[in-house]
Amino acid sequence: MKLLLLNGPNLNLLGQREPQVYGTQTLAELEAVVMAYGAAHGAELTCNQSNHEGALIDWIQDAPHRADGLIFNPGAYAHYSYALRDAIAAVAPFPVVEVHLSDISAREEFRHTSVTAPVCAAVFAGGGQQSYLDAVDYLLALTGEHSHA
Ligand code: DQA
Repeated sequence: MKLLLLNGPNLNLLGQREPQVYGTQTLAELEAVVMAYGAAHGAELTCNQSNHEGALIDWIQDAPHRADGLIFNPGAYAHYSYALRDAIAAVAPFPVVEVHLSDISAREEFRHTSVTAPVCAAVFAGGGQQSYLDAVDYLLALTGEHSHA
């Protein structure tokens, strides 16, 4: 089974960015944890990060040709990018799972809405790295029987 992990804007700054909110783990460390977890459960993960909406859209459009599911942290784009929402809807029924490190429902008002969540297969938020591991588990359970070799 092949899974993709895509992190959006400002997540390249994990480790130094607002550590009181996002912790001190770097993106490379987070990716290593998720990749190791996937490997231990039979999923090969490929990771990417971009600060650019169009690059994220290109990755989402390509994802069904490359893997069995996509774990996606859209960052702040979750709150207002209809273009990303449309990209996720366009690849349906290919499963995209939205993740957030922080609990967006418990933060500023503008973070309470995710415009991308309704077209995602599932959302895991507020668990830090556990949100990503929950997404791996979800996709393993969902797509395990129909995976890419
Ligand atoms: C985030 C939450 C977003 O509101 C924020 O803009 C981010 C990170 C998270 O993982 O908690 O960039 O997606």
